[in-house]
Amino acid sequence: MTATPASAGTAAGSTPLLDSVTGAVREIVGRRLHPQPTAELVGAALRGHLGAPGLLAAPHCEGHPDRYRQHLLHREPDGTFSIVALVWLPGQRTPIHDHVSWCVAGVHQGQESEQRYRVVSDGPTPRLVLFEEVLNPVGAISAIAPPGDIHRVRNAGAAKAISIHVYGADVAALGSSIRRTYPAPPEGT
Ligand SMILES: [Fe+2]
Repeated sequence: MTATPASAGTAAGSTPLLDSVTGAVREIVGRRLHPQPTAELVGAALRGHLGAPGLLAAPHCEGHPDRYRQHLLHREPDGTFSIVALVWLPGQRTPIHDHVSWCVAGVHQGQESEQRYRVVSDGPTPRLVLFEEVLNPVGAISAIAPPGDIHRVRNAGAAKAISIHVYGADVAALGSSIRRTYPAPPEGT
């Protein structure tokens, strides 16, 4: 869910726990399954590490005062997946967006509010409808794949939030994990 305005960070430094996650993701991606089962397996592999104190190096936990911040944690050499940490200060959010690939998001610290949308074609032009809003605490996993992956995420809490995201693409080369953004629909629709 990395948005264009996110501040990119590539601070060096991995951890044994992060290396373990990377190895598990590599094994799953190597099975060459369809996107949705791949995302669900990656989510299951990530879940047990969320909230662990040693998962992230300290520089990867730093936010930005103006916008949520992305830290690139791993870029698979063959481009098949990427892992980033997103750091959100209170109130920071993404636009409504979808993704270039399957996507797994796991909350590592704090809590995130996620609004999920679908496109409804019941009139002259398709429209976006909010169908679900969930509060994701530490340990929560969201595993999604296009189509049907339109959402917006924000830190609705009073403290810093950090989430780990795995994408089935080289987001560093692409510049973003976002395929497109959408204007917010009117309230109540
Ligand atoms: Fe996203």
